[in-house]
Amino acid sequence: MGSGNKLWDRAKKVIPGGNMLLSKRAEMFLPDQWPAYFSKAKGCQVWDLDGKQYTDMSIMGIGTNTLGYGHVEVDKAVEETVKNGNMSTLNCPEEVYLAEKLIELHPWADMARFARTGGEANSIAIRIARAATSRDKIAFCGYHGWHDWYLSANLSDDKNLDGHLIPGLEPDGVPRALKDTVLPFNYNKFEELELLVQDHDIGAIMMEVQRNKPPENDFLQKVRKLASDKNIVLIFDECTSGFRETFGGLHIKYGVEPDIAIFGKAIGNGYALTATIGRREIMEAAQSTFISSTFWTERIGPSAALKTIEVMEDIKSWEHISEIGNNIKTDWQSLADKHGLNIAIAGLAPIPSFSFPGTKSREYKTLITQEMLAKGYLAGNLIFACIEHTPEILAQYFETLDPVFALVKECEEGRDVETILDGPVCHGGFQRLN
Ligand SMILES: Cc1ncc(COP(=O)(O)O)c(C=O)c1O
Repeated sequence: MGSGNKLWDRAKKVIPGGNMLLSKRAEMFLPDQWPAYFSKAKGCQVWDLDGKQYTDMSIMGIGTNTLGYGHVEVDKAVEETVKNGNMSTLNCPEEVYLAEKLIELHPWADMARFARTGGEANSIAIRIARAATSRDKIAFCGYHGWHDWYLSANLSDDKNLDGHLIPGLEPDGVPRALKDTVLPFNYNKFEELELLVQDHDIGAIMMEVQRNKPPENDFLQKVRKLASDKNIVLIFDECTSGFRETFGGLHIKYGVEPDIAIFGKAIGNGYALTATIGRREIMEAAQSTFISSTFWTERIGPSAALKTIEVMEDIKSWEHISEIGNNIKTDWQSLADKHGLNIAIAGLAPIPSFSFPGTKSREYKTLITQEMLAKGYLAGNLIFACIEHTPEILAQYFETLDPVFALVKECEEGRDVETILDGPVCHGGFQRLN
């Protein structure tokens, strides 16, 4: 048992759930075996508490580091901030420069507010939209964080959030009074959204531009038109999609402009900064309500984001990581074909994922993580591509993955996958950790 495994066991005794983010729980990867903690991270390399080095072919900090871990220029900007002072009674000028930059990149927007987490930025957008329209009800699609407004969807039907990224979320602790204020529709199902708008006084539509599948039949254009016709605030949550396929929001690719857009994750290359940008007439509603927080004024976040955006623009990082992701998709397909495996590949170009359709998909994912970990990889069935995923690293990854796909094939032909697993199968959605 490594130091990380032991610390993870200790963590669960003093931190409910073990950590602050479901996606980084050891059980989501490889129960009882995942190294769980890092001592150092650089490029796409991660060192565990015992100094063992791994190549990160998985969630890369959960999508935060498209420029790789510890990017020299971004870190230098942060070090400069630390040297000059991160906090003071006066405000940091970088937040103004960052607002101007985001507005320059998204000319439909006039104003910006900043926060430090995606869930916060989403809550800010919802509050502003409700204040601007004086309407409570929200139609939503996808995942938008942990806050009451979102989780309340499960007060009416505990399956409402299934299919919106994390199944099994319980709304315990969310006031029952919020029941039926937040109503789900499925991506690409325009009729479902139309019905919600017909039957309810919807004030805002909250959705991602795209997650796993691309829009079909002018879905985004239809949503935009419906929102405009009914005076509904259209919010694109670009926490995950932003700055990955495009320089800014993914909506730029599709030529559909929202009323509010939310950015997070990649925008600070690992440093905490999230943004809610929008049209002036809507954003001004932030003045009639109260949205305010101490640490939204610290300086590292905006300094890191400004430098990250500058580096992204210099090297056109979104083009690199899209190409890397597309190559990964092609190579997964080739490897599956080589072994005669049926594989389903999905995701935005820079966030490729795969699964083996059938009843054993979670067992196979666990097997892949187990076998790849033994060879020095943090790997599952999802990769957030970064510019440090060089052709050499990818070639080695695929060479290592080849015999693992062969093992999966053996299992498809009758070998019992459970007999090759050294521990329990990984978790899928939310499960309580005791
Ligand atoms: C689309 C989207 N919105 C919101 C969030 C929540 O962001 P955070 O975890 O920073 O609160 C995420 C995180 O995965 C996300 O993917």
